[in-house]
This record gives sequence, structure tokens and C-alpha cells, in this order.
Amino acid sequence: MSGTELKIASIETEVITPSDDNIVPEPGDRFVCTPHVEELTTRAMAYLEVGYSVHFSGAAGTGKTTLAFHAAARLGRPVILVHGDDDFGSSDLIGRDAGYKKSRLVDNFIHSVVKTEEEMRSLWVDNRLTTACRDGYTLIYDEFTRSRPEANNVLLSILEEKILNLPSLRRTGEGYLEVHPSFRAIFTSNPEEYAGVHKTQDALMDRIITINVDHYDRGTEIEITRAKSGVSRRDATVIVDIVRELRLVGVNNHRPTIRAAIAIARVLAHSGARAEENDKIFQWLCRDVLSADTAKVTRGGHPLMDKKVGEVIRKVCNNNTVGRKAGKGLPPDKEGAL
Ligand SMILES: Nc1ncnc2c1ncn2[C@@H]1O[C@H](COP(=O)(O)OP(=O)(O)O)[C@@H](O)[C@H]1O
Ligand SMILES: [Mg+2]
Repeated sequence: MSGTELKIASIETEVITPSDDNIVPEPGDRFVCTPHVEELTTRAMAYLEVGYSVHFSGAAGTGKTTLAFHAAARLGRPVILVHGDDDFGSSDLIGRDAGYKKSRLVDNFIHSVVKTEEEMRSLWVDNRLTTACRDGYTLIYDEFTRSRPEANNVLLSILEEKILNLPSLRRTGEGYLEVHPSFRAIFTSNPEEYAGVHKTQDALMDRIITINVDHYDRGTEIEITRAKSGVSRRDATVIVDIVRELRLVGVNNHRPTIRAAIAIARVLAHSGARAEENDKIFQWLCRDVLSADTAKVTRGGHPLMDKKVGEVIRKVCNNNTVGRKAGKGLPPDKEGAL
């Protein structure tokens, strides 16, 4: 016998799981838990504990991602984080067939017989959603409406029938996976980015409980700004009041967000400056951070923002000085904490 004897020994699927791809969240020491934050968390937990998946919907900077992590931490399961993205396909969520792995055995002892044995194994690379469903993890799907609705289709049967359909490409198993009873999904999205024309996205919205979140109350914003920067409560109060006042200006009442307040506070703390009208650093810092948000506010074709920021700084700083003399301007229980 001569020539090559090709023998395909087996075709099986090997599943590769990204084992270090999950995290177990723990509350950070700079996490601020005011009654407002606690109420939102309690609401989310009430749904999650019964088995529903929840969705935090709100404008940028309203604390959605932070709340999602906080609720996930309370669930106490490992967390898998996915960010919505236009390029996302469903294979990015559930996994993909990564081709074949071949191993070859050539028996060359007897020269007249060349025996080749090949083993072909299809490699299935589990993706995060598959892992989360199989092992009962918590999936945080941040900004899920940024993914195309088709990519999110796979979630419908997971949430409704508790079954994950795997593509027929996967050669072993029955093409589906039963979702672990501890699996939960926490979604976030910004309704401003959601045009509302995608039926599939609507179908998904139908299967999750949406909690609408707005900007935090003044007291919570002050606490977060302080916790994230280390500035005094008085400085945090001035910064937050400026940001909140500017939110009322122009057409978009969601900007500037708390991120601007945190940025100003962090640079202020780093530079050793104070949130006072005559502090030069504070002046340019506010203008730099806040101008972009009010750039669209114009009068006679000229942007008004610089002037507006200046006016608001003056107004808030004056109020704060007057308020301090009169014992006002700070959240009620914080007056002595300057
Ligand atoms: N409870 C909180 N404690 C501390 N920082 C918070 C809290 N909530 C929000 N933040 C901070 O506020 C900013 C905006 O929150 P984020 O969750 O990213 O908002 P969103 O996802 O709605 O855009 C982030 O810097 C975040 O760290
Ligand atoms: Mg976010």
C-alpha cells in the first residue's frame, strides 16, 4: 500500500471560555450612598431579586453605569460587562466559531506506508453572554441601544424563555443553552440616543423593567463631587451650584453634567485653588470645562458662553458668601462641616 491514508478521527467542538473576563464588584470607598441613590438601588433590587432584568434609562451623567455596578454588587455574582457599539454583532455577545484546530499524526516508520491521521476540532470561543448565561453571572450591558437591534435579538429568548440559542455552527450540544437561574441583566441607555424606530429594540424594552433616572439632587451631587476630588464641602457646593445653574441655560438641560463638576473639583484640589470669584485658576478652569456645553448659546451670532459662565460664577459665589453669613447655601446638616 502506498500513498496517503487520510483519516478524520473526529470532529468535535472544544469550548474556550474566557475565564478571567469577569469581575466581582465591590463598593468603592468613594461611592456615595445618599437617600436618592439608595432609593434607586432598592427599586432595582426589588425587580432583580424576583428574576426580572432592569434598565437604567437617563441622560449622560445621571449615574446609570454607577448604579448598574452598585446593583450588580448587591447581587453578589460575578459581573460581565459589555458596551453597546454600532459594530457589534450577535457573535460578539454569544461567541463565534473560530475555525478548526488540526492535529496531524504521520506514521513514517515503514516507508512504503504513509499513514496520516487528522483530527479536526471546531473551536467555539464562548463570548461573554454565553458565559454569563451558563454560569449565572450578572451581565451589565452598558449603552445597549448603541448596538444595532439585530445584534441584541439574541437577548429576547434569554429574557423571555430563559434559553440562549446558539448558532447551528456549534457542533455539539443541542444548539441551545438553558439559562442559569441566577443570571440577570442590567441595561443602561440614554433615551436621547434612541430614535425609537427599531422594533426589535422595542421588543427588548418590553422584557425589561425600565427605571428612569434624572440628575441627582443637589445634595447628592455635592457629596459625589467632594468624594471624587477631595475639595471642601463649601467648594463642592459652589461648583455644583454653578453647574446646576448652567444646566438651565440653552436648549439641552442635561448639560453640563456632574462629570464637569468632578473635573473642576479635581483640578481645583490639585492646584490648591479655591472656588471663589477672585481666584484666577477657578475662573479659567470653569471657563475651560464649562464653555463647550454652552457653546451653542449665541446672541447675534456670537457665542455667549464665556460671558454666561462669568455671570453664573459671580452670582453663585455672591450667593454663597451672603448665604454663609446668613447660614444658608449648604445642605441642612452640613453647615458646620466646612
Ligand atoms: N453614587 C455615586 N457615588 C460616587 N460617584 C458617583 C455616583 N454616581 C455617579 N458617580 C460619578 O458620577 C459620574 C457620572 O456617573 P455615571 O454612572 O458614569 O453616569 P452615566 O452612566 O449616567 O453617564 C462618574 O464620574 C461617576 O463615578
Ligand atoms: Mg454610563
